[in-house]
Amino acid sequence: MCSVSCCASRVSFSRLEDFESLAQKRLPKDVWEYYGYPSCSGFTLQENKRAFQRYRLLPRVLRDVSSVDTTATVLGSRLDMPVALSPTAHHSLAHPDGEKATAKGAASANTAYVVSSFANHSLEDIAQAAPGGVRWFYLIPQNDPSRTKELLRRAESAGYSGIWLTVDQPRFQFQQRPESKMESAAGVMRLPNLTFEDVRGDASSQEFTTYLSDNVKQPITWEDVIWLRKNTQLKIVLKGILTAEDAEEAVRVGVDGICVSNHGGRQLDGVPATIDALPEVVRAVDGKAEVYLDGGVRTGTDVLKALALGARCVFIGRPALWGLACNGAEGVHQVLEVLKDQLNLAMAQAGCTQMSDIKPSLVVHESYYLHGHHCHTGTCNN
Ligand SMILES: Cc1cc2nc3c(=O)[nH]c(=O)nc-3n(C[C@H](O)[C@H](O)[C@H](O)COP(=O)(O)O)c2cc1C
Repeated sequence: MCSVSCCASRVSFSRLEDFESLAQKRLPKDVWEYYGYPSCSGFTLQENKRAFQRYRLLPRVLRDVSSVDTTATVLGSRLDMPVALSPTAHHSLAHPDGEKATAKGAASANTAYVVSSFANHSLEDIAQAAPGGVRWFYLIPQNDPSRTKELLRRAESAGYSGIWLTVDQPRFQFQQRPESKMESAAGVMRLPNLTFEDVRGDASSQEFTTYLSDNVKQPITWEDVIWLRKNTQLKIVLKGILTAEDAEEAVRVGVDGICVSNHGGRQLDGVPATIDALPEVVRAVDGKAEVYLDGGVRTGTDVLKALALGARCVFIGRPALWGLACNGAEGVHQVLEVLKDQLNLAMAQAGCTQMSDIKPSLVVHESYYLHGHHCHTGTCNN
């Protein structure tokens, strides 16, 4: 159970929803809406959460679960839990220390943080705020490859050990950035891992928008992944894959990890929930890369289900922003601790003491029960 100071009183939080409610009260309405908003109807956003409810856990009993170990090795780093932070933009809208606070919170929980190219603080300042932390960088390639190389060099020398490419966003709508006005209001003018010395204007200006449109490479293609593989020794993760075909291609071009993601329901609406897409990707990858998942993870049992279906680690997006808005670095830490405690308990209750005990036989799709005990895959029509 975590304590967050709310005004004068202290509140004990044991669920992520509590952070969500307090964050909604603390954040300006437009920032709250920007962080939460889905694309189009919000079908995929809702589906991410609903889909977790459609899997049932099948615990094993009478095992010695007096000690449960939640540690996991992810992309070569030992973490206290297989739960880490997805890249999300504009943390200074949630807290004045922005990504520096997020990095501190993740490092103090001994887990990893993927810093977004849309961070308001520089890669170097974020690294300095939490020198011992495991950090990866979501890179946005530039039209000028020498600039992309410069970003890679900066990430390498600031101790980032992995590069993430987000592959489900072929177009950026820089003209319609609702966050630019909010940033201006919050006195934040910078995207220092996306712009270079020649940038003009503040984040809300037309010059800035034009600069981004002129310099950011869009769309990126498989050629960019191949280019990246040749130009960095760092581990590479593709985020936003939902099909076996793309997963196989990713393995062919030599990536180290794949994050099954639909951008938290913020890109193509109508795509499946990530937990439903996960097994197909895991099968296609066949152990040749690590597979992760994000989207709708809100409880320890969600984490357990994803691990059982083959994810090596899960990532959270919005919940970290809620923690940040509630209580800065400490709030991020607390959100992660809540998930770790819930995972620890769920593992014990399921008869698992370590990651290798978490197997596919631990979960079954609800259709197994709806249609009689004939179908383990959820695909039969009985
Ligand atoms: C406010 C916000 C900003 C985001 N910015 C990025 C980004 O810069 N790059 C990216 O790859 N994904 C971005 N995402 C998507 C997250 O990385 C992640 O896929 C998603 O939030 C996971 O779903 P969840 O919020 O339900 O945990 C963003 C999500 C939110 C909510």
